[in-house]
Amino acid sequence: MNVLEERILKDGVVKEGNVLKVDSFLNHQCDVELFDAMAKEWAKRFAGKQINKILTIEASGIGMACIAAKQFHCSVVFAKKYKSINIDGDMYISQVESFTHKETNQVIVSKKFLNEDDRVLIIDDFLANGAALQGLISIVNQAGGRVEGIGIAIEKGFQPGGKFIRNLGYQLESLAIVDDMDWKTGTITLRKQD
Ligand code: G4P
Repeated sequence: MNVLEERILKDGVVKEGNVLKVDSFLNHQCDVELFDAMAKEWAKRFAGKQINKILTIEASGIGMACIAAKQFHCSVVFAKKYKSINIDGDMYISQVESFTHKETNQVIVSKKFLNEDDRVLIIDDFLANGAALQGLISIVNQAGGRVEGIGIAIEKGFQPGGKFIRNLGYQLESLAIVDDMDWKTGTITLRKQD
């Protein structure tokens, strides 16, 4: 069991509606030592890939992406979310529908920071339905770059995003996969990983 899995079992809180609160260490208060261990694990899993950029999405992905970037010796670009915006030609844009929040955001990255030379590692904190990830993949494709891999902190294995993204052929590495949660008992069931 890796350190993130141990921490989820120790400090994760299950809320009604299949929501896992991890705000004491991951996406509100941030345990940077934990982020460092996660970064090292991603570095191991993506060893041998020629990654020259990390792409994430605001807000919660930014912290862990920056710590991961120290392992890959590259910079981080984070996609920005807007409810609606008049875009000029200098931006890559994709629509991302959040099933959790029932809203659509436009996700944008400046053309200055992503191009056809980029070999990209996408990092994010949660993978549920995969909408955010599909938006980020679309942005890399628009830039003519290549997605070398996808690193996720917590995948909700009972939602369709992980299967969908793996079926597209991407190397998707989720450090913890939650297969089941029960808010009444507080039980969290993690998928066994090697
Ligand atoms: P998807 O991108 O995989 O399709 O996910 P979905 O629309 O269902 O989720 C939207 C937002 O909700 C994302 O954050 C995601 O990180 C978060 N989320 C999904 N499931 C959980 C959960 O069980 N617990 C917690 N804590 N968050 C969850 P976001 O809107 O992009 O917010 P942020 O990055 O600005 O914090």
